[in-house]
Amino acid sequence: GVKMVNMADVKTEITEGCHAPVLLPNGDGWHSAEILSIKEVNGKPLYYIHYEDYNKRLDEWVPDERMDLSKLEQPKKDVKTPIKKGEGTPVIPRAVNGGTSSRSSSPERDIYENGTMQSLGLSNSGAMKVNIGGGIGSFGGRKRKQEEDGDSQDVPSTPRQTGSMVAHHDDIITRMKNVNLIEFGQWQIKPWYFSPYPQELTCLPILYICEYCLKYLKSAKCLERHLAKCLYKHPPGNEIYRKDKISVFEIDGRKNKQYAQHLCLLAKLFLDHKTLYFDTDPFLFYCMCEQDTRGYHLVGFFSKEKESAEDFNVACILTLPPYQRKGYGKLLIEFSYELSKVEGKTGSPEKPLSDLGLLSYRSYWSQTILEILLNLKPNEAGERPCITINEISELTSIKKDDVISTLQHLNLINYYKGQYIITLSEEQIHTQERAMAKRPIRIDPKCLHWQSKDWSKRGKW
Ligand code: ACO
Ligand code: ZN
Repeated sequence: GVKMVNMADVKTEITEGCHAPVLLPNGDGWHSAEILSIKEVNGKPLYYIHYEDYNKRLDEWVPDERMDLSKLEQPKKDVKTPIKKGEGTPVIPRAVNGGTSSRSSSPERDIYENGTMQSLGLSNSGAMKVNIGGGIGSFGGRKRKQEEDGDSQDVPSTPRQTGSMVAHHDDIITRMKNVNLIEFGQWQIKPWYFSPYPQELTCLPILYICEYCLKYLKSAKCLERHLAKCLYKHPPGNEIYRKDKISVFEIDGRKNKQYAQHLCLLAKLFLDHKTLYFDTDPFLFYCMCEQDTRGYHLVGFFSKEKESAEDFNVACILTLPPYQRKGYGKLLIEFSYELSKVEGKTGSPEKPLSDLGLLSYRSYWSQTILEILLNLKPNEAGERPCITINEISELTSIKKDDVISTLQHLNLINYYKGQYIITLSEEQIHTQERAMAKRPIRIDPKCLHWQSKDWSKRGKW
């Protein structure tokens, strides 16, 4: 589709690849955007645009009234397929969850945008002594040092080609959202990304999904008929955890293939840079539900490889948008580490992490490690408590590299008189206490009924 506009006698071509300022949906002013596609609806052009430096989930169709076409820039000729800086970069604009606004002044945002991981040249040696001295005045109020060092976790140098999260290059089709809206239980949810639902269903205004078996249907009528005969009131598999209203079901991707595939299709709507595997056999799925009188409602899930050579304890993790920013993400993460504790292993999420994935993991790691540090008691001689990186890792099942990167990210490590010491300011302690008070739901290990299986001994999954 090519469209012409008349601007001061100059005929300018609006084509895919052009850039222009677009009015942000949340009233935050103009933002430079690239036109990815053009269509005509009722004789009026609509432009599918990507906001530069913002995550793709904000991409949308806009009419020309939302655009400042007097500032239109033609595509840069020398670059055939422009490399999108915005994809995967950790910029969190105001409204990322399709409307729920995250206040720009929130501390996590500050951490995220200002925080750079500093390479302190620490060895990973477990022998490294980490003293903790909460009350050392001279270090107490020390300011965070900001350095230019990149954060190795944000930008992987080469995309991984194994596991479930294979980085792929966007093509014309997968670059654009294809499902307008889904109806899921009591919710209507706007998808964030492309998901390979059958093409004939993607032109519908609403795609209906059974909240129990996750089957997709083309109309409200079909869903109604389906619900009358759907046998599910909760996910298949074993309920391995229950406390109060929260339950977790373990689903074997081989035994419940259809459910697992439907779950992956649904998840892909909110996960970018994922290649969907229809071979769900190598994965287990942990579905977290909230119970009420009508049944078990899916809140989120994570998948996990039955055998991971790289010690990944999570492949993909998702909180459904209506439940986001309420602590369920960290609850799922906490659950994944509880499983690792039962296995007697340390684990780490599969890379690359998404922007929100990194935020959530950072927050979980920080709070979990700080909780351990703050619970340390001085020894009998009244000396500073002492703990090694290895011990923190063993206590939490958080992989050693993640412990170190978290300590560095929090800028807690100082070198003092030949020793590495961790110093926490009063302010950091208060921030931690406030953050923990805001986390009312926690995983209660006593309510987990689960034994790990050695999948390597099972011949075939
Ligand atoms: N903007 C700013 N901060 C955010 C946002 C947001 N939109 N969403 C979450 N956070 C922060 C929260 O402030 C919180 O930190 P805090 O407690 O220190 O304030 C932290 O992230 C976790 O918040 P939760 O409420 O526990 O997490 P949530 O239920 O929202 O789930 C998740 C987080 C799973 C990443 C969710 O955003 C999601 O499903 N995103 C889409 C899929 C995705 O990106 N998954 C991760 C991919 S990486 C991987 O799979 C290994
Ligand atoms: Zn159903």
